[in-house]
Amino acid sequence: MNRGECMIPGAMKRLKIGVLGSGKGSNFRAILSEIRAGRLEAEPVMVMADVEGAGILDLGREAGIPTRVIREPKFRTRLSPEVEEDVVRDLLEAGVELVVLAGYMRLVKAPLLEAFPRRVINIHPALLPAFPGLESWRQALEAGVPKTGCTVHFVDAGMDTGEIIAQAEVPVLPGDSAESLHARIQVEEHKLYPAVIARFASGELP
Ligand code: GRF
Repeated sequence: MNRGECMIPGAMKRLKIGVLGSGKGSNFRAILSEIRAGRLEAEPVMVMADVEGAGILDLGREAGIPTRVIREPKFRTRLSPEVEEDVVRDLLEAGVELVVLAGYMRLVKAPLLEAFPRRVINIHPALLPAFPGLESWRQALEAGVPKTGCTVHFVDAGMDTGEIIAQAEVPVLPGDSAESLHARIQVEEHKLYPAVIARFASGELP
């Protein structure tokens, strides 16, 4: 069986996506689910993670998609230029048209951004520009805001600073814990991210 055949109905041209993550991959699961339901004209052709054993790699393997572990010996918050260049080469060889960061915990730098101009997107669990960085749901809770949400944005070399594409709001409820708030945000993430990718697939974006 060729890659992707197991889950791709029909023979239309689909947007080839490369997915980068570091964790469990629930956003990637939501993307796969929309593809399988025939509501998203995309084809994941490569899944990469910078964490060995990340759940997102298992999801890729189960779907018959090529996967790769990114090994970075020097830095924790970004990749060395030569490692990022390797990543770019693999993504280009796989025919990736849109790079989808799905819980990828490193900053992206010039090699990837120059190879995919306005073609790298990320989902962030807050209403940017509020609460960039780590554990944004906890930041929102501690700040006492009445609502927060999630943002899909173009990626630039900063931390969660790229142009905003779409957002979805969720209320912060009395008695919320960091976990309950993050779970409510993730419900919205799982709808918003596939919907934005569909806009790239249809040619509406960029
Ligand atoms: C999500 O909350 C996303 O907004 C953030 O990292 C988390 C990834 O979750 N960038 P998952 O691995 O997709 O479940």
